Amino acid sequence: MEVVVSGIRSTGNLHLGNYFGALRNFVKMQHESRCFFFIADYHSLTTHPTPSDLKYSVKQVLTEYLACGIDPEASTIYVQSDLPQTAELYLLLNMNAYVGELERCTSFKDKIRQQPDNVNAGLLTYPTLMAADILIHKATKVPVGKDQEQHLEMARTFANRFNRLYSTETFPEPHAFNFGSSLVKVPGLDGSGKMGKSEGEGNAVFLSDEDAVIRKKIMRAVSDSGPTESGQPKSDAVQNLFTLMGLVSDKSTIEHFDESYNNCTIRYGDMKKQLAEDMIKFISPVREEINRIGADTKLLERVMNEGKEKATESANKTLREVRSIIGFRSLY
Ligand code: ADP
Ligand code: TRP
Repeated sequence: MEVVVSGIRSTGNLHLGNYFGALRNFVKMQHESRCFFFIADYHSLTTHPTPSDLKYSVKQVLTEYLACGIDPEASTIYVQSDLPQTAELYLLLNMNAYVGELERCTSFKDKIRQQPDNVNAGLLTYPTLMAADILIHKATKVPVGKDQEQHLEMARTFANRFNRLYSTETFPEPHAFNFGSSLVKVPGLDGSGKMGKSEGEGNAVFLSDEDAVIRKKIMRAVSDSGPTESGQPKSDAVQNLFTLMGLVSDKSTIEHFDESYNNCTIRYGDMKKQLAEDMIKFISPVREEINRIGADTKLLERVMNEGKEKATESANKTLREVRSIIGFRSLY
């Protein structure tokens, strides 16, 4: 059976980009593949969270995984740092990861810009840790958003390099995956780029947002001064609003606003009102689940413990093989 691995960093609450880029796929795949979904808390240390923020985020991401429909019976849900075998594989892969290729990685260059005072080695080797997450279970499919494409390419490079170096076929090639189509990039509300936690206040709609907050964020979303002639191409900001509508609204609603854009009668206020209501319809049941599951500490503990056990079994198998290939004594 095909093995699937993915994770989301524990840096706070999840937003619609996380959902449509990654989580939605997790839920769809869990019944047809052997799935491992983890909470990337090692990765989150690159931004130096306080212990209490870290604890909150791990619990929150776990809660939101479950609220979105990941079934802990069907898939393995675990916390990355509960599987220190990943850290060992990370160390081993780092021996064959070259500083030059790590420095050329787009996400590393972005981070240098975002946090110039904290350019730590964890940021540089972020792709190696991510490769270790994937290769520890020998996964071939990795459901992620478009921004993770380059990381997957690097994971393939590290897998192939290890195989070549030791003349083995230990690691299969992992590929980024999205159900039915190309990888997804959900736009933010600020008129530019993608929805993300670190892109500034009001840019992201969170799965835990209250109705009033969703309305406020959408009504403040960037648009433009409106089309002046029919057939005029949409500005990036307006295209973003249509893209968001495409995720949560009915086809007929989108067609209605598309038509009114094309004949220049569109009122962005009306469009945003509709978008806000459709988003609320989508998010409010998820939010209620988040609140319900978040209060069930026993359930969360049980899921983490069972997930750790299942993930450990799979990781030990890989590390046993890898240590023997390298020439180390057997430990696992
Ligand atoms: P953030 O950018 O908010 O910090 P992460 O980097 O932790 O989110 O991303 C977790 C997962 O969600 C990844 O698979 C990533 O590709 C996906 N993702 C995040 N933002 C978006 C987006 N705007 N569109 C599509 N997928 C996204
Ligand atoms: N880098 C991913 C992100 O920012 C999170 C992640 C860490 C991941 N390890 C992974 C995703 C392994 C898929 C597979 O969202």
